[in-house]
This record gives sequence, C-alpha cells and structure tokens, in this order.
Amino acid sequence: MNAPQSHHRSVETAVKAIQNQAGFKGSVGLVLGSGLGQFAEELMETTTLPYQEIPGFPQSTVEGHSGELVYGRAGALDVLVMRGRVHFYEGYSLEEVVFPIRVLYGLGARTLIITNAAGSVNTEFSPGDLMVIDRQLNLTGRSIMAGDEPLRPYLRRLGDLVERAGREMQIPIRRGCYAGLTGPSYETPAEIRFLRHLGADAVGMSTIHETIQAYQLGMEVLGISCLTNYAAGILNQPLSHEEVIATGKRIEKAFTGLLHRVLSQF
Ligand code: HPA
Repeated sequence: MNAPQSHHRSVETAVKAIQNQAGFKGSVGLVLGSGLGQFAEELMETTTLPYQEIPGFPQSTVEGHSGELVYGRAGALDVLVMRGRVHFYEGYSLEEVVFPIRVLYGLGARTLIITNAAGSVNTEFSPGDLMVIDRQLNLTGRSIMAGDEPLRPYLRRLGDLVERAGREMQIPIRRGCYAGLTGPSYETPAEIRFLRHLGADAVGMSTIHETIQAYQLGMEVLGISCLTNYAAGILNQPLSHEEVIATGKRIEKAFTGLLHRVLSQF
C-alpha cells in the first residue's frame, strides 16, 4: 500500500519530533498490551515520552492502557516500547492504529514484538498461558493493504526463541492462531464455536493490522498473546474487562522475565 502523502508526512513529523525532543532510537520495538506494561519498568536507562507530546500520535482511551513511549536498554539492545496502543473500536482509522508502528520503524526498529491480551478459544489453553502467534485470521473485514495480505507475517525463528526461553524458565509456551475481530464487545458463545471451527486458538481485538503494517515495512515480527480468560461460552459465566486485567497482572512478572530472556538471545 502506498500510504497517503499526508500520512507519510505526519509519520516523518512524529519521528523528527521524538528524535529532537528525546533522541530515541532503537532496533527493537515492542507493543505492550493491556495489563502488560511492567516490562518497560525493568529496562535500563529509560526515558519516557507521553503520547500527547508526540505530534499525530493516537491516544488510548481504554482502561489498562497507559499511553507512553519508553526508550531503554535491555542488555545490549536499544528498545522502544509502546505502553498502550489504540484500537479500531475506539473510533480510530486503521491508518491511525498502525501509525505508531510506522513511527517505530522510522526510529530504527527492524524487529517488532507485539503483545496482547486474548481469550482462549482452544479449550486446552488456559487463562494465564502465553501463546506465540504462528498465524493470524484477519476477521476485521478490513485491511490497510491495497494488495495481498502477507503469507507468513510472524517469523518462526522468533517464536522458536520464545519457546526455548520458556523451556529454560519453566514457563509453558503455547503456539497457535490468533483471530482478530474489531470488538468492542466480547464475542458470543456461538461466535467462539465458529472461530474454533475456523482454526482459531485465541481471540482478540488488536494486533492484526499492526502486524500487517510491520510486515509490509519489512520488519521481523514476533507476536505473543497473554491468554487472560476462556473465550465466551467455555465457562458458564460472563467475561469482564476486570478479569482480563487481573490475569494480565498475575502473569506479568513471568511474562516480563520471558521477554527479557528472549531479548538477551537476539
Ligand atoms: N475476546 C476478545 N478480546 C479479548 C478477550 C476475549 O475473550 N480477552 C482479552 N481480549
């Protein structure tokens, strides 16, 4: 896709503003999903820039997503962390949803680690499990691409690194297919049965377009879902955003440790 010229210019403006204000650069970008922000606190030599201070950067309106860009070091790596992201269901256009990915690329990131909270559709995967995303189902009915969707946006080699780090740390790692819907409501039990038939293992409302954008820019992408709840209809109880945040908090420490371990093997 050729982004509209104005969009291209505003990405450049944001990149320049960040470079001038904070001097950020980094080879690895991370997007931290709901309740997974702790990772940014364990980086060395961090500097933080609130999204409000970045021209054109979209602001999150969802509880559990703070909005700041954090620069820091993880071992020998310079990393750029997005604490918080925006979603299509908040009323943003897809161009706005993927804007930060283009900015991370502009700041030098050539590898992107995308994380999210997701419901487990596969009944063998439990809340608290971490799942490397091997494949994605774009069920949002939309695409930022004018041409074809990527064949294989998630890099197998990076998923393997996570699996190995998980073994070393005794954190079980699942692998599977992430189905991305637009939300904002959680799914119905009938929709979850449908998704299971389609081959989905996890379901969420983010990630899909960010991944397509990153792939399109030529970035290497690693996706990790933190399974925060059984998807609708698996248990006889309604889902809640509180449950999603609470499970995220519960596994945040293990998740953070795992991410650091993975980065140390880059
Ligand atoms: N469905 C959609 N998005 C989600 C879920 C879910 O069950 N859990 C966390 N994000």
